[in-house]
Amino acid sequence: MKKITVAIDGFSSTGKSTLAKQLAKELEYVYVDTGAMYRAVAYYAMQNQLIGSDFFDKIALIQALPKIQLEFKFNADLGFGEMYLNDENVEKQIRTIEVSNFVSKVAEISEVRSKLVEQQQEMGKNKAIVMDGRDIGTVVFPDAELKIFMTASAETRAQRRFDELQQKGDDVSYEDVLKNVVERDYIDTHRADSPLVIADDAIEIDNSYLNREEQFAAVLELINDVVKTV
Ligand code: DC
Repeated sequence: MKKITVAIDGFSSTGKSTLAKQLAKELEYVYVDTGAMYRAVAYYAMQNQLIGSDFFDKIALIQALPKIQLEFKFNADLGFGEMYLNDENVEKQIRTIEVSNFVSKVAEISEVRSKLVEQQQEMGKNKAIVMDGRDIGTVVFPDAELKIFMTASAETRAQRRFDELQQKGDDVSYEDVLKNVVERDYIDTHRADSPLVIADDAIEIDNSYLNREEQFAAVLELINDVVKTV
């Protein structure tokens, strides 16, 4: 069967990664979570005191970019690649609310974006890939055979993220999570370089009232239709 590129973009906490992982598993495609890459750079900046609640040394971060090595290493138990920053598994560290608070600022920097986009294009050069992010259908793979754009209300998304963080034992309030979701939406959609926009040829899915199974079935059908035509 012909292999394609599936680009999944959309707002934060719309379940992009859950859907992308399910699809990659079903199709035996590679799954790439590009948000994890931006998160790992933000985590590096935090660890090296380049970013904090009242400072951000962008120049120092840009200068440090050649020292930031990102790699997905496949974890057979999980069925997908985990994010390694300079050979350290940082999957847990990059999912905290602190990293979520800083990551949009890091993702605004053009030098960061071009480094990561180049790496993402390399990972997808042989197709058979499901990649999720904000600019996959617009910048990384503008020729992707299928582009999905996912949305849901800010409240629905905040509730999902809040439940996830609570399950992990993170002591956060729903109000803080909602604030973070709204702030990130603003920064992601207003940044000068590659703002979050829906590609002209993307299919929009609002999953506020769709469950995972319904959404998975709908997108799988779309993929099967596309594969027949390429
Ligand atoms: O998908 P996520 O919430 O893990 O993404 C983290 C942040 O990274 C998000 O605020 C926007 C940014 N991002 C981006 O700018 N471009 C991408 N392709 C993926 C993520």
